[in-house]
Amino acid sequence: MTNQHDRYDLADENIVTVFGGTGFIGRRIVSRLLDKGIDVRAVSRHPRKNKLHSRADQRSSQQIEADILDPSSIAAAVAGSRAVVNAVSLYVERGEETFERVHVEAAAALATVSRDAGVERFVQISGIGSDPRSRSNYIRARGRGEDVVKAAFPGAVIVRPAVMVAPDDAFITAIARLVRLLPIYPLFGEGNTRLQPVYVEDVAEAVSRLASGQNSTDASTFECAGPRVYSYRELVREVANQLKARTRLVPVPFMLWSILATAAEFLPAVSLTRNQVDLMRRDNVAASGLPGLAELGIQPRGIEEIVHMIAHQA
Ligand SMILES: NC(=O)c1ccc[n+]([C@@H]2O[C@H](COP(=O)([O-])OP(=O)(O)OC[C@H]3O[C@@H](n4cnc5c(N)ncnc54)[C@H](OP(=O)(O)O)[C@@H]3O)[C@@H](O)[C@H]2O)c1
Repeated sequence: MTNQHDRYDLADENIVTVFGGTGFIGRRIVSRLLDKGIDVRAVSRHPRKNKLHSRADQRSSQQIEADILDPSSIAAAVAGSRAVVNAVSLYVERGEETFERVHVEAAAALATVSRDAGVERFVQISGIGSDPRSRSNYIRARGRGEDVVKAAFPGAVIVRPAVMVAPDDAFITAIARLVRLLPIYPLFGEGNTRLQPVYVEDVAEAVSRLASGQNSTDASTFECAGPRVYSYRELVREVANQLKARTRLVPVPFMLWSILATAAEFLPAVSLTRNQVDLMRRDNVAASGLPGLAELGIQPRGIEEIVHMIAHQA
């Protein structure tokens, strides 16, 4: 590991730098790029916590320590890169870490620094439903983040994933755990919100193709979603059926979820945030007309495969 920019390998001009390269999607983007023979810098504040998929990945990627909120550290991390991916997340605001600072100001700073450093491609991971006019602080910041990145880095590509799932996610695994555990399953509202869950590996492959210039479209926004739209109720039922769990689904008003989430944000052991509740209030499906996985030559896998993996993991 290195955290001194003068030791970074500037000689290689085919480096892709992945901010958030140790995260849920970020570490998979790193793996996919390495699979393509591309040199990668995985950037995060705590590179030692990296859970890259294989030992081979750990050997061949550079683990860089930098904070997206610190302009001097991002300049050093970006120097010499051909492409930069921003896969940094912030799900709960804490102190100076606000949605505005991370998803808008820092995203703009990273895009600006990348442009000034002569980076050729910039990929910003956002989310389906991002909207600069939303009343939700989180969703509004995501939408504004897209706008400022496009202004700072002409030609930047925005990737908006649907909810991403995997055997190590925080979504399907939580549903699987609860349907097995509880005789009564509390739905978000009536459970009518429409979702299009996507396998995180499929999105990581899409991002790696965009970052490495392996795409034939010149579209600037991609929405990456799974093969099927479910209501939340249908999704929980599907997981329960596949796991042969008998649970009764009961509606719980969103107001109650918001109160629970506000309390849960002070309890690190409980994984529920207000922005998750906000996101569950509105449909989260790919917009027709925008390109997605198919246009990048990727056939998305269904959640059945993920639930099967969850059911068979130790
Ligand atoms: N997960 C989903 O289902 C989903 C769906 C749609 C969109 N997205 C979007 O996809 C992106 C990635 O999400 P994720 O779920 O993969 O997040 P994650 O697992 O929480 O990973 C976040 C990554 O960002 C790094 N990071 C956080 N703050 C940082 C900072 N100040 N400076 C540098 N690095 C920082 C983290 O490492 P350190 O903490 O060590 O710095 C980690 O590597 C986000 O924009 C998210 O909104 C996610």
